[in-house]
Amino acid sequence: MTPDRKREFVPAPAALPTRGRVLVHAATVYDLVQPFVTLGQEARLNRWLAQQIHLPAGSCVLDVGCGTGLLTVRIAEQHPEVQVTGIDASRPMVDVAIKKRARGNCHFQQALAEELPFEDQSFDLVTSALFFHHVDQELKQRTLQEIMRVLKPGGTLLIADMDRPYTALGWAMSWTAWKLFRQPEIKENMDGLLREEIVRAGFRGLREIAKFSGYIRVVEAQN
Ligand SMILES: C[S@@+](CC[C@H](N)C(=O)[O-])C[C@H]1O[C@@H](n2cnc3c(N)ncnc32)[C@H](O)[C@@H]1O
Repeated sequence: MTPDRKREFVPAPAALPTRGRVLVHAATVYDLVQPFVTLGQEARLNRWLAQQIHLPAGSCVLDVGCGTGLLTVRIAEQHPEVQVTGIDASRPMVDVAIKKRARGNCHFQQALAEELPFEDQSFDLVTSALFFHHVDQELKQRTLQEIMRVLKPGGTLLIADMDRPYTALGWAMSWTAWKLFRQPEIKENMDGLLREEIVRAGFRGLREIAKFSGYIRVVEAQN
């Protein structure tokens, strides 16, 4: 076997190098756990997010931090005429997504949110669900700038993530997750920092369009 041929078989790393909290070992149980984490709202949230999308046939959507593709596939199912791509830094998450959810208009690949492997202005809309509380302030900003770069002019950003909780249970869950996982990125979101970073990245018309589960807020903005 030549050295060149050996190089062809180097397996993809389980997690691409990033300060983001990449879920590697959770991949096999993620789909079972997520309905509990969202207080039974996982399917409703992702279905609702997909319903907010109104794009002409042939449009392209990117789902950042797609995990096992729960939102990605909802969009692909509800919009069969649109091409949807999900990216995640975790090889096991992407493997589950491909195995369970890849289809004609639904694609997955391992990639970093802060270094998106796509051409400028290649997507009409970028979504992200429950990803931004996995990255710190600087990576939030770098990711938002990358999203801005790959979005077409006038394209839409649609994010559902942890934010300032609005129920007692939401406060309890967010506070517990912050302390239990020792995840300051969650506290940043609880303090409303993600919305500040979206504006700082240059997005226009930021508005909150829905709330779920006592601790998730959905926001929309344009580039
Ligand atoms: C809580 S999961 C959300 C998955 C999915 N969007 C959902 O709603 O079920 C957060 C995901 O972000 C991924 N992640 C963390 N840091 C990342 C990075 N820098 N780039 C891409 N993905 C990252 C993790 O591997 C994980 O799959």
